Amino acid sequence: MFYRTIRLLPALVASLVVTAAGAQTSGEAAINAKVANTLKKLTLEEKVAMIHANSGFTSPGVSRLGIRELVMSDGPHGVRREQGRYWGDATPSADSGTYLPVGVCLAATWNPQLGYDFGSVLGSEAAYRGKDVILGPGINIIRSPLNGRNFEYQSEDPYLVSRLVVGYIKGVQDQGVSACVKHYAANSIETRRNFVNVLMSERALREIYLPGFKAAVQEGGVNTLMGAYNKFRGQYCTHNDYLINQVLKKEWGFKGLVMSDWGAVHNTVEALYYGCDLEMGTDLSMLPKPDYTKFFLGDTVVALVKSGRVAETVIDEKVRRILYVMYKTNVVDGQRKKGAYNTKAHQQTAEKIAEEGIVLLKNDNKTLPLTNAVKSVAVIGYNADRKQSMGGGSSQVRAFYEITPLQGLKNVAGNQLNITYSKGYNIYRGAQADAALIQEAAEAARKADVAIVVGGWTHGYDYNVWADNAYDAEDVDKPDMKMPFGQDELIKAVLEANPKTVVVLMGGGAIDVSQWAAGTPAIVQAWYPGTEGGTALAKILLGQVNPSGKLPMTFPKKLEDGPAEKLGMYAKDSINMYYTDDIYVGYRYFDTKQVEPQFAFGHGLSYTSFAFGNLTVTKSGKGATVSFTVKNTGKVAGAEVAQLYVRQEVSALPRPYKELKGFQKIALQPGEEKKVTIALKEDAFSYYDDNKNAWVLEPGVFDIMVGSSSRTTQLAGKINL
Ligand code: BGC
Repeated sequence: MFYRTIRLLPALVASLVVTAAGAQTSGEAAINAKVANTLKKLTLEEKVAMIHANSGFTSPGVSRLGIRELVMSDGPHGVRREQGRYWGDATPSADSGTYLPVGVCLAATWNPQLGYDFGSVLGSEAAYRGKDVILGPGINIIRSPLNGRNFEYQSEDPYLVSRLVVGYIKGVQDQGVSACVKHYAANSIETRRNFVNVLMSERALREIYLPGFKAAVQEGGVNTLMGAYNKFRGQYCTHNDYLINQVLKKEWGFKGLVMSDWGAVHNTVEALYYGCDLEMGTDLSMLPKPDYTKFFLGDTVVALVKSGRVAETVIDEKVRRILYVMYKTNVVDGQRKKGAYNTKAHQQTAEKIAEEGIVLLKNDNKTLPLTNAVKSVAVIGYNADRKQSMGGGSSQVRAFYEITPLQGLKNVAGNQLNITYSKGYNIYRGAQADAALIQEAAEAARKADVAIVVGGWTHGYDYNVWADNAYDAEDVDKPDMKMPFGQDELIKAVLEANPKTVVVLMGGGAIDVSQWAAGTPAIVQAWYPGTEGGTALAKILLGQVNPSGKLPMTFPKKLEDGPAEKLGMYAKDSINMYYTDDIYVGYRYFDTKQVEPQFAFGHGLSYTSFAFGNLTVTKSGKGATVSFTVKNTGKVAGAEVAQLYVRQEVSALPRPYKELKGFQKIALQPGEEKKVTIALKEDAFSYYDDNKNAWVLEPGVFDIMVGSSSRTTQLAGKINL
């Protein structure tokens, strides 16, 4: 009986697959039929109305046919504004939502399941609020620590991005609404984002900057995509023939709609022909009564078609894509999921992501977790008592509530700890070390068993997203990687007062810790960890949660150590920005050029220890199967992210010293051992040859490196392919 069941399984699975695929096709066919039918009924004016916004966050339907507007909301970290048609709308009473940890924190979990859970919360809250499209995930490659929007993005590594983005999108879209992957493509800085013309090799584009988007389309099935503000090879990304028409729509088969970033359309004819389906944006100068018919894809288009200069089929193609998304997500007809809002489950998901995303960077002498012997803690630093949800630009979230690090410690520690708080520094751009604040903080530290400094970057003033103290924010980049507001002086003084000092860094990525890192026993990277971030952080500091986050980007020692800075982050001569760092982004550069980072890509410590062993690498088709064991050799339960890197020993084109091609997060009880198997397909060994304009698998010997970070690979094997 058992045998029969097993034997029948493959056939059963195959029939299920066929049914599922068949159902999908007939579903698609039904949608296409509805779209075609509706399209036939529309006048030219109605069609043109549909291809541009009619408010800050909606585009028109056709009321005559009972087709309502398409309603959007910024993600990527929460659903904004209940009825928000504009950014500055008055606040309706229930205008708050679950504030999820930021994108880099999600990436630092290295847990694709949490990507799905993250998306599910967003999708569910969007559905509840009657939103059709969540403007996220943001997945631009983190190329330089200076980019103001790194916090919204995920990683310097295209493979890690690809694995997380798929779950995120499915999570959103399984709730019946659309995700919008953004900003396509090569939007790796904010300053002058509306002007810069990014130039890079085809190889860098294919190997580094596109894989996340490709996975979003082909594996995630994303319904909508947003073009970036910048130019790419001379054309604005939002209407870029190569990126949108050739690659996205033709090569990858994207069926959904391409919308512009807000105000990113610059030219009617280019938008018409180079792939933009929907022009979004709010011209603030037009408020309170903006005239959307004056948009590039407004009345001008009607005139162009009527005079015979543009074929109506060009408009039809855009409307077809918009209607396709509308029918697919039951905007026009059908049953929508109801969704839910600010539920306990959503808050728990936010906390879980923070718990798994916070990274323990350094922990000498078992400084953390704080033991029962610690009776008093001096909490220091502006970020300890600061809410972050309303900072950063378009990703701001009006949080239902937000537990700060200070509040979290108080809640979790209860009577166990005597907690004092001092601000330590001021947060306005250009603020220097404040002697009085430093002295107060140092005194508090001296009197306490342990000092915890919570500092790092800031998002900007609450409710003023483009404030002059914004470092992690839209439209700005960081001037350098140095700690702002005199925090170096503060930390050094606190360390002198109490060597048992823990530094918690908040922010979207690397910051220069070189002045004090060596003398600081424990350092924690907390990102902006969302609504329950303070709870998650406190649980980690107190040992109720064992940290398992890993850095999704390299932390250089000094800004100038990094490739983008060395190799031309800002073009001085013109608007042209040459990505001469090419494929050597992040650890690909640091490892290949043997530059020692402060903290390596993939690095993150635990309160337990893990042993890797029993590596086998076997050939399988044009790829390989890699298996190994991971054992928890310590005393507490924990999770390790086993990372698999591949290197080709000799190749016609130069290749990075190692590249991430697989990973798995494994939860283990003390003493427990698990076997991990990772299948590497042909693409894990291939590179993009821009002489041939194709991915090639060049035969040769490949090193397989497996371990706990990009710089700590405990296991090594080889395979000849
Ligand atoms: C941002 C987008 C955002 C849009 C709407 C733009 O400025 O670049 O990411 O979705 O505004 O708020």
